[in-house]
Amino acid sequence: MKITEQIKQPIAHEMELFEKKFYEAMSSKVALLNRITFYIVKRKGKQMRPMFVFLTAKMISGGTINERSYRGASVIELIHTATLVHDDVVDDSNRRRGFFSLNALWKNKIAVLVGDFLLSKGLLLSIDYGDFDLLRIISVAVREMSEGELLQIEKARRLDITEDIYYEIIRQKTATLIAACCSLGAASVNPESEDVEKMRRFGELIGMAFQIKDDLFDYTEDSIGKPTGIDIKEQKMTLPLIYVLNNCTKQEKSWLINSVKNHNKDKKRVKEVIAFVKNKGGLTYAEQKMGEYREEALQILSTYPASEYKDALSLMVNYVIERKI
Ligand code: IPE
Ligand code: IPE
Ligand code: MG
Ligand code: MG
Repeated sequence: MKITEQIKQPIAHEMELFEKKFYEAMSSKVALLNRITFYIVKRKGKQMRPMFVFLTAKMISGGTINERSYRGASVIELIHTATLVHDDVVDDSNRRRGFFSLNALWKNKIAVLVGDFLLSKGLLLSIDYGDFDLLRIISVAVREMSEGELLQIEKARRLDITEDIYYEIIRQKTATLIAACCSLGAASVNPESEDVEKMRRFGELIGMAFQIKDDLFDYTEDSIGKPTGIDIKEQKMTLPLIYVLNNCTKQEKSWLINSVKNHNKDKKRVKEVIAFVKNKGGLTYAEQKMGEYREEALQILSTYPASEYKDALSLMVNYVIERKI
C-alpha cells in the first residue's frame, strides 16, 4: 500500500465527507465563480491540512470527531486554497497542481477576487456556526501568512536575509497554518485542554520541515505540478542558498549576490547558481535541518498513547520529508 493510502486509512470516511462539504462551502450565485470553484475542486491538492485536522482530532478524542472538526477542516482548506491563488499572482507563477494556475487562465484581476471570495467564505463558515474559538486560531494564521509573505518580499528586495529571518518567514507563511490544523483538530474535540497548545507546536514543527522541503523542490527539475527554479528568479533566497552564502569566500559571495540581484532572469546564470549551491552542500544542509524539525515533532507525538491515529500522524511526519510532490 502506498504511504498516502496508509495515512488516509483511519480517516477514509472523514475525508470522503470532507470533500463534499468543502465543495459546498465554496458555492456562489455567480456563474463565473462556480466555474472557477469547480475547476479548483477538480484539481485538488494533497489535502494534507484536512488530514492533519482529522488525525489530530481523532488521536486526541480516541476516535470520535464532530461537526466542528469538519467545519474547521473546510475553513482551513478554503484559506489554504485562497493563499495559493494569491501566491501564484504574487510569484507570477503559471502552473499549480499539474495544470494552469488561475492567474494563467483568468488573469490576475479575477485570481485576486477569487482568493478574497474563498477567504471570506472560510471565515463565514466559522462565524455562521459560532465556532469562535476555532476562528481565533484560524485568524491568527491568516494574519501571520500575510505578514510572512510580505517579510519575504521585503527581504527579496534588500537581499539581506539571514538564516534566522528565513525561519521566521517560513514559520509565518507556512508553518502557522499547519500549526492551526493541529491545534484546531485538538480544540474541536477537547477545547481548553493542554493538547491544543501541544499540538499547535507539533504542527508548527512539521510546517517548518514542510516548507524547507518545498524550497528544496525548487532546486530540482522534478515534475511536481508547479514550476521549479523560480525562487531565484523572484529573488527569493531560501535555506540552501543562505547557507552557502554564509559558507563561501568573499568573491563567491559577491558573485552569488550579483547573480540574484542583476541576473536573476538569465536562465543560464540561474542554473549556474543552482549548481554552485548544490556543490557547496546547500541542499545537504537544508535536509539536515528538515530532519531536526522532524525529530522534534516526533518527540511530541511520542508523549501520546499508542493508536492508529498516532501511527498515521507519524507516517505523515515522514511523508512531509520524503514526498515527491
Ligand atoms: C503548497 O502547499 C504551498 C506551501 C505552503 C509550500 P501544498 O504542497 O500542501 O499544496 P497542495 O494543496 O498539495 O497543492
Ligand atoms: C508558500 O511559498 C506560499 C504560501 C504559504 C501561500 P511558495 O511560494 O514557495 O509556495 P509554492 O512553491 O508557490 O507552492
Ligand atoms: Mg509560490
Ligand atoms: Mg515554493
